[in-house]
This record gives sequence, structure tokens and C-alpha cells, in this order.
Amino acid sequence: MPDSFRLTEAAARKYQAHSVPAMFGPLAERTVELLRLQSDAHVLDVACGTGALTRAIAKSLPGRGRILGTDLNQTMIDVARELTPDTTHTLEWLAADVTELPLKDGTFDLACIQQGLQFFPDKPAALREIQRVLKSDGRLCLTCWKEISPFNDSLATALEHHISTQAAKKARAPFSYRDGEAIRLLLEETGFTVKRHETIDLQREFDELGEQILALPIEKDLREAGAEKTQLVIDTTAKLLAPYERDGVFIVPQKAHFFDAHCG
Ligand SMILES: C[S@@+](CC[C@H](N)C(=O)[O-])C[C@H]1O[C@@H](n2cnc3c(N)ncnc32)[C@H](O)[C@@H]1O
Repeated sequence: MPDSFRLTEAAARKYQAHSVPAMFGPLAERTVELLRLQSDAHVLDVACGTGALTRAIAKSLPGRGRILGTDLNQTMIDVARELTPDTTHTLEWLAADVTELPLKDGTFDLACIQQGLQFFPDKPAALREIQRVLKSDGRLCLTCWKEISPFNDSLATALEHHISTQAAKKARAPFSYRDGEAIRLLLEETGFTVKRHETIDLQREFDELGEQILALPIEKDLREAGAEKTQLVIDTTAKLLAPYERDGVFIVPQKAHFFDAHCG
């Protein structure tokens, strides 16, 4: 696994404590509204992280379904497992690379990817592998950021000034795959038919800017750069984000593509 994809237990816990409430939890809630879940479905959440979407699906899925959350990082799966909710569904967790899912052909009615596609080094291989484990009438729903968020853009500018262009690139990485037409083409080239493409409008809301920044993978770069430079990055980001601050709370817009694509 490349270093950039390896997340420590501390990183997984910070992700759950700060990034999920501010962003990935609200996105999951909006996404399940668009999923139109069928009762008793067998659902796969790929790159599930600490399980924000998996838990939201478990809450909304009618009947007795089967839900499996998978992620490359064992540390994310460990946190997800700890947070397994009481549910009538069978809910399981598995550490696996999306391109090598240890799962049988034609098993799932629905596969989801919430903010994972942009990180897959071989996207066609990932989508073909998902297609393999879906039933012939199955579908794939995914979200991917549509525009760079002012939060990450301001942070990247601060990192460029005080740390390195490499660290700035990491802060922009989640927004590296924003072109909706490119995503549609990728889905079609890997055998899916796009049935719906919508935009989800969200607001990232938080009061502790430092906590939000230190919950990101660039925390390692900041730790290595030391406390003084870290404070400079936080202060510069705060200045750039001033137009989005009201009474100590930052409210930053963030837009995502939502795709619903069917097999065949
Ligand atoms: C931004 S997080 C999103 C996590 C989760 N879907 C959520 O909404 O909170 C991206 C996730 O993609 C996972 N990931 C990256 N590359 C992967 C791969 N090749 N196979 C499976 N998961 C991968 C990472 O481990 C990380 O948990």
C-alpha cells in the first residue's frame, strides 16, 4: 500500500471525530435520500472509511438486508466495527482493496462509493471489480466532489506558503476528480449505464478550524514541520476563510456529484 494511503489508528479516530460530523456524515444523510433503497437489499459500501454511509444505509434500509462495508485501511474498518449500530440487518466489515474484493460474483443489488473513487489509482479496474460482484440488474451509486471547497483551497494556499507544494497537493487531492463528464465516461466505458446525475449541495460547518485541519492526512506534514509552522498554517487558513465565518462558526459550501449507474 503506498504511504499516502496508509492511515494510522490515530488518523482513523481523528477522521471519525472531526471529518465525519463536519462533512461525511451530512453527505451520507443526503446520499441515502437519493439511493431509493429497496427492502432486503444486499448492499456493498466500497471505501467505507469509518462507516458514515454504511451506518446511514443501515438506518434507512427497509426490511432485513445484508450490508457489507469494505475499505483498504484496516484502521478505518476497526473504528467502523466499534461503531456498528444495533440493526435488524446483517452488517459486516472487511478490509480489502477495491480492485481485489474477496467476494463472489453477482452478489450485491447495490454498491456505493462515497468520496473514494478519486483515490483509486486504477479507476477502470476498480469499477470492473465492483461490476463483477454486482448482480446483473445491480447498480452503483457514487459521490465525488464537484468543486474544490474553499476550506481545502485556503488550507492548500497556506500550506504552499508555509510548508511545501507537496503538502498543498495533498490538501487538494480529494478534489482531483471533479469533471462530471469524465466520471460519466468512465462509468460507461466500464459497462455501466448512467440513469441519474445530480448535484448535492452541502455546507461544511465547524467551529474549531485547527481540529478540522489536524484531522486530515496532512497532519503528518504539519507535525514534522513543528508547532510554530502549524500555527502559521492555521492562522493563514483562518484569514483566507474569514468571509465564511459567522460568530466563531465557519460555514463553507461544498458540492458533490451524485451518480446512479446500472449494470449493462
Ligand atoms: C475520504 S475517505 C471516504 C470514506 C467514507 N466513504 C466516508 O464517506 O467517510 C476515502 C477512503 O477511501 C479508502 N480507499 C483509498 N483507496 C482505496 C482502495 N484502493 N480500495 C479501497 N478503499 C480505498 C481510504 O482508505 C479512505 O477510507
